[in-house]
Amino acid sequence: MYIVKKKIKGKEYFYLRRSVREGDKVKSKNVAYLGKEKEVAEKRAEEIIKNLEKKVKKREDKEKEDGKIKLKGKMKKENEEKLEEIARIARKRGFFFQTARIYGGKAGFYTYGHLGKALKLDWENLWRKFFLQEENFYEIQSNNILPEKVFEASGHLKNFNDPLVECKKCHFRFRADQFLEDKGIEDTETLSIEKMSKIIKEKNFRCPKCGGNLGEVKWFNMMFPVPIGFNNEKGYLSPETAQASYLAFKEEFEATRNKLPLGLAIIDKAYRNEISPRQLFFRLREFTQAELQIFFDPEKINEHNNWNQVKEKKLRLKLAREKEIKEIRCEELNKKFGLPKFYLYYASKIQNFYLKILKIPLEKFRFRELSKEERAFYNKIHFDVELDLETMGGFKEVAGLHYRTDHDLKGHQKVSKENLEIYYENKRFIPHVLELSFGVDRNIWALLDVFYSVGKEGGIFKFPPKLAPYKLAVLPLIKNKKEFVELAREIYNQLKEEFSCFYDESGSIGRRYARQDEVGTPFCITIDGESLKRKDVTIRDRDTTEQIRVKIKDLKETLKKLLEKEIKFREAGKRISTRKK
Ligand code: GLY
Repeated sequence: MYIVKKKIKGKEYFYLRRSVREGDKVKSKNVAYLGKEKEVAEKRAEEIIKNLEKKVKKREDKEKEDGKIKLKGKMKKENEEKLEEIARIARKRGFFFQTARIYGGKAGFYTYGHLGKALKLDWENLWRKFFLQEENFYEIQSNNILPEKVFEASGHLKNFNDPLVECKKCHFRFRADQFLEDKGIEDTETLSIEKMSKIIKEKNFRCPKCGGNLGEVKWFNMMFPVPIGFNNEKGYLSPETAQASYLAFKEEFEATRNKLPLGLAIIDKAYRNEISPRQLFFRLREFTQAELQIFFDPEKINEHNNWNQVKEKKLRLKLAREKEIKEIRCEELNKKFGLPKFYLYYASKIQNFYLKILKIPLEKFRFRELSKEERAFYNKIHFDVELDLETMGGFKEVAGLHYRTDHDLKGHQKVSKENLEIYYENKRFIPHVLELSFGVDRNIWALLDVFYSVGKEGGIFKFPPKLAPYKLAVLPLIKNKKEFVELAREIYNQLKEEFSCFYDESGSIGRRYARQDEVGTPFCITIDGESLKRKDVTIRDRDTTEQIRVKIKDLKETLKKLLEKEIKFREAGKRISTRKK
C-alpha cells in the first residue's frame, strides 16, 4: 500500500492506495482518504495498515483453527521449536526416524524405533480392547497385495487420484492442490483439474524449483502397482485395509453363525503413492490403519441396542454448514439433524476412546462434518475426528467415521459376479457398512504433540501410564557394591515379567531420571543405601517428582495400582522428602 497526493484546484489531497490483480491486469484502488496534510496522512495510513494487518491475522488464526493453513511459514515460532524438539527426541531416543537414511531416505517412509513401536503397540492394543469388546466383533488378518479387480470394484482404480502438475522445463512433479493452497487459493480440495489449470495460467504461477512454465493439471492414481507372478498379473498394494474386510465378509458371516451387526477389524499397513508427502506422519506412503467395518441391516440404521447409554451424551462437533464447534446431545443430533442412531452410537464411542482412554483434553478434540464436495467418493455420511495439534498448525484429521452404504459389497458383487447377498431375519439383502477408520501413525504423532511438556531439563512426554513405552525404570543408586546391584537386578527381573521396564545404572541419578522423564516413563524405582536393611525401595513420580518408599514384597501390587490409577501416589507408600541428588 502506498500514499498518493492529488492536486485538485490547487489544493492537495492525500489517499491510501493499493495494487490489485484483476485477471491479467494490475489495477490501483483507493483504500482510504487521508486528509489534506502530509503528516496527518502518514499517521492515518500507518493506523489503517496496522488495523488491516490485525484483521488478516485474525482471519489466519481462524483458518488455522479450521486446519486450513499449512505448516511452513505460518506456524508460531514456539510451535516450530516444539516440532523440532519432538523430532529431535524421537530420533535420539528411538521413537522414530527416517527409513534408509544412509541412502538419503525417501519422503513418506519412517521407521519406528523401539520406543515408538512400544507406543504404537500400546495404542493398537487399547484400540482393540475398546472397540472389539462388542458382541460379534472380531479382528482378522488378510493381505496387503490384492488383485486389480478388487480396486475396479471398489472404485479406487478410477477415483483414487490426486491432482498432479508437472514443470515443462525441469519435469518436477508436485501436487497441484497443495501448491495452490500455499499460494493462498481457498478450498483447493473442491476444485476440478480444469479449474486448477486455469488458475495456474491466469495467475502465471511458475515451477517452485526452476521457475519454468507448468503444464496442465492431471489426475494421478495413488495406488502402488505390484505385478503378481510370472505373467505379471495386475495387482496393487492396498490403499486401505477396508477392502480386505469386504472380501472376507461372506466367509466370516457364515463362520460366525450368520449374525448382524458383524464387525470385522484389520490393523495393518496401507499404501498410497503420495505425490509430495509432507507433514511427517500426516502424509506417509506406507502407513498403518486400524479399521473396523461394521456390517448391518440398513433398515435398522436408526436403532442401536445401547442407544439409551449414549442418547444424553454430548458430542463435540463442527457441522459442515456451521462455523462454530458445538456440543450437542446425541438425541438432538438424531431428532434435529437427522443423524442415524447407529451412526451416533459409534461416534460417541469414538469420542470416549479419545477422551477417556487416550486422555486427550476435551478442547483438543472435535468431529468435523465433511461437505459433499470434500467427502470420499464412497461415503454418505462422513465426520472426521480431528485433534488440535500445535505442531501441525491446528485441528488435523486422525480418524473418520464413514457410512459407506452398500457401495463396496455391491461393487464386488458386480465385478466378481458372486452373489454377496445374505439371508437374515427372513429377507435377502446386501448389508450396509459403517466404517471406523483410524490412521495409527497420525494418532501416534498426536500423542507426541499432546503429551509433550517442557520440564526443568527440557522436553518430556507426560504420557498416560497405559501409553508410556516404559512403564517403569529400575535405577540402582549404589553401583559399586555387588549386593545392591544384585538386588536391583532381581527386582528388575521380577518387574519385567509384567511391565515394560528399563534397567539403567549409568550416569548420575539426576541424569537417569531426566532420561526417563524425556521418554515419558511414569515411575522410577531406586534401590538406595537403605534398601537392603529395610527391604524397600523408592518410587518416583514423573509428573510431581515426589518420592515414596514401598516394601519390596508389596512393590508389584503397588505399581499395578499406580499404573491403573487405582490409588493416589501419596497414599501408595511412605512419602520421603526429595533430596537433591
Ligand atoms: N478406509 C478409509 C480410508 O482409508 O480412509
